[in-house]
This record gives sequence, C-alpha cells and structure tokens, in this order.
Amino acid sequence: MIEPGAIVEEKAIPQGVVVIRYPQEGDAPGLLEFINRISEEQTYILFQGEQLTLEQEESWLSGRLNELVTRSGITLCAMLGDLVLGTTAITRKGLAERHVGVLGISIRDGYRGAGLGGALFDAVVREAATHLDGLRIVELGVFGNNPVARQLYESRGFEVHGVLPGGVRHRGEYVDHILMHRVIEQPA
Ligand SMILES: CC(C)(COP(=O)(O)OP(=O)(O)OC[C@H]1O[C@@H](n2cnc3c(N)ncnc32)[C@H](O)[C@@H]1OP(=O)(O)O)[C@@H](O)C(=O)NCCC(=O)NCCS
Repeated sequence: MIEPGAIVEEKAIPQGVVVIRYPQEGDAPGLLEFINRISEEQTYILFQGEQLTLEQEESWLSGRLNELVTRSGITLCAMLGDLVLGTTAITRKGLAERHVGVLGISIRDGYRGAGLGGALFDAVVREAATHLDGLRIVELGVFGNNPVARQLYESRGFEVHGVLPGGVRHRGEYVDHILMHRVIEQPA
C-alpha cells in the first residue's frame, strides 16, 4: 500500500530543504498554480500556455491518486513548504504495453540546475521499479531543442530509439520529438 503524502526523500537546495513525496488530497490548488505557471512559461512541456481550472486539476489529482491504488502509475511532488517546485510521473501503458511506463518531469523556473530534477527523476524511477509490478521499460519524449533534459536522461542511461520529425510545436515552431527509453531492473 502506498500512503498518499508519504515522503520518499529530502534534498537540501540553497532555498531550503525540499521534500519529495507522494501527492495527497488537498494538493490540487498548489499543483494547479504550478502547472498553470509552467504552462504560461511555454517551456519544453506539452502544455504551451493552456490554463487549467481547479476542477480540472482536482480531477487530474484524483486520477493520479487512483493510479497509486491500482499500481498503474507513480506520481511524486517536490515541495518547499506548500510551494510545488516540481512534479514527475511514470504512467503505465495498457494491454500488450503494460510493461512500459511513460515518464514526465518538470521543475519550477528559478529552482532548476540545483540537482532537484536529477533527484526527482531518480526517485520516480526507483519508486516505479519497486511498486509497478512487471514494469520493464521506461520511455519518454524530449523536445529536440532541450539539451538540458536530454543530458539528464542520457546521464541516467536512457537511449534514443526514434525521432518524430516536427513532432511537437514549441512556441509556434515545429520541433523534433526525440523518443528515449531505458530497461528497468526490478528488485528481486
Ligand atoms: C529538465 C529539468 C527537469 C532538469 O531538472 P534540473 O533540476 O534543472 O536539473 P538538475 O540540476 O537536477 O541536473 C540534472 C542533470 O541535468 C543536466 N543539466 C542540468 N543543468 C544543465 C545545463 N545547464 N546544461 C547541461 N546539462 C544540464 C545534467 O546532466 C545534470 O546531471 P547530473 O545530475 O549528473 O549533474 C528542468 O530543467 C526542467 O524542468 N526544465 C523545464 C521543463 C523540462 O524541460 N521538462 C522536461 C521535459 S522532457
């Protein structure tokens, strides 16, 4: 049983001690502020300016909490007090692809480059390997113009297995979508 709100790690950064934990009921307003801000930034994520409502975020959170119960996904948040500094998730695909999980990650502007993304990334892969029974592969997509994220994934053993030319639209330009994966070692 994964407890909502369970802490998996604490990490010191210059601004304080960041808690990496599972999400819990009541997190929706903080998560909404985070996703809307990062969407507005039009950074290298799929949201490119769209703004969500609290109702939509509550529904998203409820889905993530349900995934913890059904062991179909792992979501983690990096928190500095009540401020969401980052989120990550590995969500399992279905049917014949049930052994494949799709990873996403974002860190709040102003808190990048301090080791937080690396810590969050390692934590979600570790938690997924432990709790998502039968998971064998983690895959992700990275915008072709995002060398920082690509470097992060390569440093963690991810390899490119394909490119969808012009597969994402970033700030109005079509950019290659680079597809990467890594085989996961599950604990014995
Ligand atoms: C990509 C992102 C998650 C990385 O998180 P971060 O906290 O900035 O990264 P960290 O400081 O933990 O560094 C992790 C790795 O990234 C790489 N990295 C970080 N800053 C870098 C820079 N300026 N140049 C090159 N590589 C860099 C390094 O390989 C580093 O490896 P290390 O852990 O061995 O030192 C974060 O920058 C982010 O959210 N960016 C905007 C949204 C985004 O790109 N999301 C990913 C979508 S695929």
